[in-house]
Amino acid sequence: MLITSETIDSVRSHLQDWREQQQTIAFVPTMGNLHAGHLRLVDEARERSDRVVVSIFVNPSQFAEGEDYTRYPRTRKQDLENLSERNVDLVFIPDVSEMYASPNLTIVNVNDLSGQLCGEFRPGHFSGVATVVCKLLNIVQPDLAVFGEKDYQQLVLIRTMVSDLKQAIEIIGVPTVRADDGLALSSRNQYLTAAQRQQATVLYEVLRATREQLIADDTINYRKLEDQQFQRIRQAGFRPDYFAIRNALNLARPSRDDDHQRLVILVAAWLGQTRLIDNLLV
Ligand code: PAJ
Repeated sequence: MLITSETIDSVRSHLQDWREQQQTIAFVPTMGNLHAGHLRLVDEARERSDRVVVSIFVNPSQFAEGEDYTRYPRTRKQDLENLSERNVDLVFIPDVSEMYASPNLTIVNVNDLSGQLCGEFRPGHFSGVATVVCKLLNIVQPDLAVFGEKDYQQLVLIRTMVSDLKQAIEIIGVPTVRADDGLALSSRNQYLTAAQRQQATVLYEVLRATREQLIADDTINYRKLEDQQFQRIRQAGFRPDYFAIRNALNLARPSRDDDHQRLVILVAAWLGQTRLIDNLLV
């Protein structure tokens, strides 16, 4: 039976019962409008623990001014049906006032990571993410929490925050779930017109081509390759924000001296009014 809680007190009292029974708790934070990508995280949580808690909260503090906060798709009934089918134990669906006292004076900022890549183009976004995820982790206090590699910078940011703040929570990253044609599933894909939806597959194609070039030539000039692929995406009709090759552990620019570093290729680009992100590990 799926329990729905709108208050922190109610979440805490359910969790207390389960903890007294020595049950392990896995947590999956979301903004709802659940698709197969989110549900893969839920399955991972289900496999790894006795109890699964999911949150649905469209977090205002991670949307920059002029972004899609008010039109972000809200599909609560369908979401609850999906979670119930997957044997989730508890869904936390708070109001904004439950999560943020006004004024909310405490902000979590993960320095360096917050200001680059997507952070450069979405000012305040990552402090909004870190702040709400920190609150949610403090409310649920799970044994483990599951996040998607789809939002790769977010995953690195949360791993860093949890480690820095000594939160005793294991962070699990789950590979990106894609449509048959390669496009990473995202709630924002539904903003695309039919023509844009076809065009959107270019992102994954360019990521894969880049990975092949990196594997084929280990002396390749990263900056040049980044510039080339940025132009390729622009020529395909996007307005790219960035195309970047980084160290997969900490998102630093890769250094030539380190033979053992793992790379990740990250891209963010606009199609019309829709901003898409994707990435690929090398
Ligand atoms: P949301 O975009 O709803 O995503 C919730 C989780 O689902 C994130 O961990 C995200 O990386 C993962 N996810 C989304 N699409 C995916 C896909 N195609 N494959 C695998 N995982 C996917 O990310 C957020 O919400 C918010 O920033 C949140 C962490 C909840 C904080 O508000």
